[in-house]
Amino acid sequence: MIIRLSGQQPFAQGGNRLCYVHPADADRCIKVRRPDFTLADRRRKKGFPKSLKPLSSFDDNREEARVMESLEKRYGDRVFQHVSRCFGFVDTDMGVGLVSEMIRDANGKISQTLKKVIWDEGFTAECRQAVEALTQFWLDNLVPSRQLLLHNIVVQRDSRGAIERLVVIDGLGSAGLLPSPLLPSFIQRRKIKKKIGVMHGRIKVLLGQRDQARFPGYHGLLMHDGVSSR
Ligand SMILES: Nc1ncnc2c1ncn2[C@@H]1O[C@H](COP(=O)(O)OP(=O)(O)O)[C@@H](O)[C@H]1O
Ligand SMILES: [Mg+2]
Repeated sequence: MIIRLSGQQPFAQGGNRLCYVHPADADRCIKVRRPDFTLADRRRKKGFPKSLKPLSSFDDNREEARVMESLEKRYGDRVFQHVSRCFGFVDTDMGVGLVSEMIRDANGKISQTLKKVIWDEGFTAECRQAVEALTQFWLDNLVPSRQLLLHNIVVQRDSRGAIERLVVIDGLGSAGLLPSPLLPSFIQRRKIKKKIGVMHGRIKVLLGQRDQARFPGYHGLLMHDGVSSR
């Protein structure tokens, strides 16, 4: 069966994918490639030497599904404390889609990105603690990921509005030519520490932009909350 998405508004879009609420299950989302940015466009944009890698390696959906499977094998269920679950592929009228766990707050709204939360509230003590829990988890478990981008992390809140956990929804796997799990663990740890440092740098930059009138860029903003009919 082909799932129809084209009549629906995506709830968000990243650089590569459009994200839709699954029409048959509000607790799942479907990610499809942006029709305006093909895999070949993406490979071209990366430049040498990454442009030598096969086209399939630029497919986030495939990469994500592969990494999820290996993470689950390696760590079992607890990895899903900080990583959204993945339920495989479906056919849609916008091409092959990857089905993932939709991260929602207790009030039913789709969780906001860490970028939006820091933009709105600053880097509060509560948020700092949540970031610390995530980065410690990354280090303890040597989770293979690309850079930890603030729009690839969502902040899930409980019924009182308190932060329950941060969940990484994109950017898993390795950026380099060698898959991270093949590297000695001290090197993996060093790379993760560097990524955490870069992430804190990004938080600082964002904090410095808070006096601007407009949210920087469109990455990390939701197009609708998945519950109201706007
Ligand atoms: N599982 C999810 N739960 C809640 N929001 C999500 C989820 N996956 C993606 N999003 C939202 O959609 C945006 C784009 O998704 P993403 O997977 O990062 O696409 P891309 O690969 O194009 O960067 C994210 O910044 C986030 O706001
Ligand atoms: Mg993304």
